[in-house]
Amino acid sequence: RYYSTEQDVVVIGGGPGGYVAGIKAGQLGMKVTVVEKRGKLGGTCLNVGCIPSKALLNASHKYEDAKTKFANYGVKVGSVELDLAAMMKYKEKSVNGLTSGIEGLFKKNKVTYAKGHGKITGPNTVEVTGEDGKVQTITTKNIVIATGSEVASLPNVNIDEQTIVSSTGALALKAVPKRMVVIGGGVIGLELGSVWSRLGAETTVVEFTNRIAAGADGEVAKKFQKVLEKQHMKFHLETKVTSVVKNANGTVTVTVESVGAGGFSGQIEADVVLVSVGRRPNTTNLGLDKVGVPMDKAGRVEVGDHFKTNVKSIYAIGDAIKGPMLAHKAEEEGIAVMEYLHNGSGHVNYAAIPSVIYTHPEVAWVGKTEEELTKEGIKFNVGKFPYAANSRARTNDESEGFVKFLSDSSTDRILGVHIMGDCAGEMIAESVLAMEYGASSEDVARTCHAHPTLSEAVKEAAMSAYAPINITA
Ligand code: FAD
Ligand code: NAI
Repeated sequence: RYYSTEQDVVVIGGGPGGYVAGIKAGQLGMKVTVVEKRGKLGGTCLNVGCIPSKALLNASHKYEDAKTKFANYGVKVGSVELDLAAMMKYKEKSVNGLTSGIEGLFKKNKVTYAKGHGKITGPNTVEVTGEDGKVQTITTKNIVIATGSEVASLPNVNIDEQTIVSSTGALALKAVPKRMVVIGGGVIGLELGSVWSRLGAETTVVEFTNRIAAGADGEVAKKFQKVLEKQHMKFHLETKVTSVVKNANGTVTVTVESVGAGGFSGQIEADVVLVSVGRRPNTTNLGLDKVGVPMDKAGRVEVGDHFKTNVKSIYAIGDAIKGPMLAHKAEEEGIAVMEYLHNGSGHVNYAAIPSVIYTHPEVAWVGKTEEELTKEGIKFNVGKFPYAANSRARTNDESEGFVKFLSDSSTDRILGVHIMGDCAGEMIAESVLAMEYGASSEDVARTCHAHPTLSEAVKEAAMSAYAPINITA
């Protein structure tokens, strides 16, 4: 056992929340240690989340384009073959480059990196158990919990990461399954379902509720499902999984039961089953009970303003607390909590956090959906513009999709923007900025956009919300 010099702050967890918090603290001149048990920095996002999934989405999309589209553009590539091992290597290279980059940033910003499992043993002490069993006690003025989340499973379903996989296994399959069943039509199911569907798996998504892409605008979700169906993904909505059984021949039988008018009851055979029914916070074995920090029913650390728990020196951010489980949300909180510790101010605008589903086409949104506004009794204008009427989308052979603007009918202030289409994830940034500055749809409509670009569709949708001219997508 050894003791280090007292720190201003110890961050537990080296994911997007924790590593960004650590770097910010270093930049603000604090003595900071980040504790991470994974052996690598970057958390879920860099190691088994955002980054590897986006690498596979990119590679599988290019494979599909090469197979189905290149010839239309006069690009002859002969026969197109998949080299899955090479695709996985490309994915690993993307991950490794980024995770080692964070270690460099730690050194540059004087962040101490403590490798091991962190446990809070008092309001001002964190105990770190290294892989070699050595225990270090760090005394600190403040503690920031940034322990993130892990895969949630279903009762009686044993994830073996070979045939019954979570997102982690689905990012590293050794062969393309002939048939894949995806349990849960949320972000992970749709992104990783798309990857394997593009690479040749017959993919069936089983979703408990009556819609896919929870959180997205209802109209967008419906149109999105149709697009994915055109890409040969199958959907059983209002359907619940009752059992997942491995057969002697290595296949898996998924038994499902209808729970609504559109549901399906029966058995689906699969070679790989992806369980993507959400994630749960990493808050066990952290010492929270010992210091008396409460958790909510979902196991998230309870925080009030400025990420404060009920213990004065302990704060929490990222997937371990309430709010969307998104890397950029965790990062914003990581910066805000350090600014707060530094000078008493630090702010995250939860009304302007974008969401993106990185399928093809992409789906992206910020602010409220039509359903939310209707429920809240807010009167709003709708402005839409189809990709089919955008010249760049046409020349790019990407005319599927639309932009939808929702603005306050009395003030014209932007309340929500929803995009389904190529590059939606990049295009949403403009609307996030507009909302951050409290812009009206007229503001966006009167902003000059380069021609020909996809972003002109955003301007057109804003124009249509400001002065509706009946263009429907
Ligand atoms: P995490 O990234 O989970 O990091 C927490 C870290 O803390 C982990 O490395 C863990 O090992 C460590 N830790 C936990 N307990 C301890 C302890 N006691 N001691 C020491 N270390 C500990 N989000 C997006 O915004 N965009 C995307 O495209 C996206 N894609 C995703 C794809 C997949 C397949 C998955 C699974 C997630 C994806 N996410 C995406 C979500 C994103 O990964 C998370 O929201 C984000 O990583 C949360 O950051 P965090 O720092 O709060 O936690
Ligand atoms: P999710 O919450 O997005 O979706 C889970 C889906 O599973 C929901 O539609 C839910 O109704 C359904 N479901 C739950 N139980 C079920 C059951 N028993 N049978 C059938 N369906 C069931 O969770 P997901 O996709 O696992 O992702 C976890 C988190 O990771 C998300 O919160 C998301 O924010 C984050 N993530 C973000 C990405 C991005 O930003 N592009 C990409 C991937 C993950």
